[in-house]
Amino acid sequence: MKAAVVLLFLALYVAVHADLACNPDGDGEPDCVGRSGQVSRDFWDPTHYWKCNSSGKAVLTACESETGFDPKVGACVHWSVWQWYPPCPETST
Ligand SMILES: *[C@@H]1O[C@H](CO)[C@@H](O)[C@H](O)[C@H]1NC(C)=O
Repeated sequence: MKAAVVLLFLALYVAVHADLACNPDGDGEPDCVGRSGQVSRDFWDPTHYWKCNSSGKAVLTACESETGFDPKVGACVHWSVWQWYPPCPETST
């Protein structure tokens, strides 16, 4: 019984989380409502990243030359240290 409840919440969490954060067919454009200033990756273009502006819109912003967006660092890093991460790690196994 207890395990079933835990599983239910886990399934709900995964469903909600995947819905909000990870659509592998999308470009990663975030829902910026209430998240002004937050940055997130563009799924398929590491030379750009999404930045939430003060009116709650995601604005595609270019990294400086020689750099790509690292989703773990949350910023653009030089290509020599940049690495690819799958956009949806929880569904790639
Ligand atoms: C935020 O981005 C949207 C879409 O690009 C733009 O229309 C709006 O003017 C921007 N707001 C600010 C405060 O920059």
